[in-house]
Amino acid sequence: MTTTPQTFPDDFLFGAATASYQIEGGAREGGRGPSIWDTFCATPGKVVGGDSGDVACDHFHRWEEDIDMMAELGLQAYRFSIAWPRVQPLGTGEFNAEGIAFYRGIIDRLKSKGITPMVTLYHWDLPQALDDQGGWLSRGTVDAFAVYARRMAEEFGADVDMWATLNEPWVAAFVGYGAGAHAPGHADDAEALQVAHHLNLAHARAYRAMKEVRGDLRIGLVNNCHTPRPWDPSSEADRAAADHIDALANTMFHDPFVTGEYPAVLLPNTAHLTDWSFLQDGDLEEMHGQVDWFGVNYYASHVVRHNPNKGQETTKLATLADGHKAGANSPWPGDEEIEFMPPTGKLTEMGWNVDPSAFHAHLIKIHRETGKPIYVTENGSAWNDQIDEDGRVRDTDRVEYFHGHIGAVLKAIGEGADVRGYMAWSLMDNFEWAQGYAKRFGIVHVDYDSLERRWKDSAYWYQEVLRQRAVVP
Ligand code: NOJ
Repeated sequence: MTTTPQTFPDDFLFGAATASYQIEGGAREGGRGPSIWDTFCATPGKVVGGDSGDVACDHFHRWEEDIDMMAELGLQAYRFSIAWPRVQPLGTGEFNAEGIAFYRGIIDRLKSKGITPMVTLYHWDLPQALDDQGGWLSRGTVDAFAVYARRMAEEFGADVDMWATLNEPWVAAFVGYGAGAHAPGHADDAEALQVAHHLNLAHARAYRAMKEVRGDLRIGLVNNCHTPRPWDPSSEADRAAADHIDALANTMFHDPFVTGEYPAVLLPNTAHLTDWSFLQDGDLEEMHGQVDWFGVNYYASHVVRHNPNKGQETTKLATLADGHKAGANSPWPGDEEIEFMPPTGKLTEMGWNVDPSAFHAHLIKIHRETGKPIYVTENGSAWNDQIDEDGRVRDTDRVEYFHGHIGAVLKAIGEGADVRGYMAWSLMDNFEWAQGYAKRFGIVHVDYDSLERRWKDSAYWYQEVLRQRAVVP
């Protein structure tokens, strides 16, 4: 019998997360080079409302006040990403002193306020110059990433020990190169699988390069999770459908680092799409053991079933069910006969369900399958927030969502899962990729005209959670 503790452990890290392209703006300032997201946003029809990250939350100019706000909220940690094209505009060659100084300022200020920086090296803003040479389809990009990672460890390793190499490689590969709904907008199953493998290799090579600089860095990989449950658990075909999605979404991105193998179903299930010749001798050995912790980004749960008659419409639905704009293609190679069931119950503005029980189950699963420390690197929800006449944003749905999900973390800890931190997504409303600014995930509201920040009720609530280290009502 296990009991759920009342409070979080003393060394548990509570914080909030953001990503460079989603909040910084200053896209053409400080020597930053263009990224694939600048190009994608400039392509008509790719992003809702024709939005882009050109200005975003203007964090590039407001980072000092933003960090002061984090301190006021009581954050113990702040997860943010470095824009690769800001520190190395072309992705190879010269580094940009101005870009490095920008992140130096952020890290120093965070530390002066007692906030632990957790730095992600790649949150999808690949330098455009690298894409021009093949992007993640090329092993040149894998090696360039390791050079960039090494340099960041040299610059900041003395002050930052929590590092994540990649954010959500599943999205970068399968939504960016498979569904065509994210930059660089390719829609090709074989490419998506190749890119997924190259991203894994990039993590491994960056891990090794950074450890050569400082052996004490704690280097993790952040995965989004899908929690595919079979529609009919007694059906072998439905269970196989769930296994296929689990392999693509989850185990493909942790097994190689833990067991040195890809999940058994992955290659056979995708052999009709690619010959996997991009998986070269020695690659899996290079990955084996190369991770210190796993980041879990959790939003919603999924139910899948085997359906040999599913049509194009359900393929699109599968894309939407992940909250990403429907692309030309599905983000699930080999899903010709797999159907995502429409989400049920209360749905967020993204069309995602609210299911803390699947979050709890996933934390236990990752704990069992990897045995590694876990940080919840993102968790949150988008709602149709309104500013009331008295100036308050009464985002009760968001508070309720957090309440259930932070409770699920505590329950998992009580059952032995080694979960060491929780980062709310997001500190503030920001650029939600293909959805533009239409979807608001922040605990702090951003007025995109005045750029004013305004605490929502959820920010005050979260402040109290952090104060009491408990899931307050
Ligand atoms: C995960 C991604 O890492 C983040 O960039 C995005 O905004 C959230 N999901 C919400 O979709």
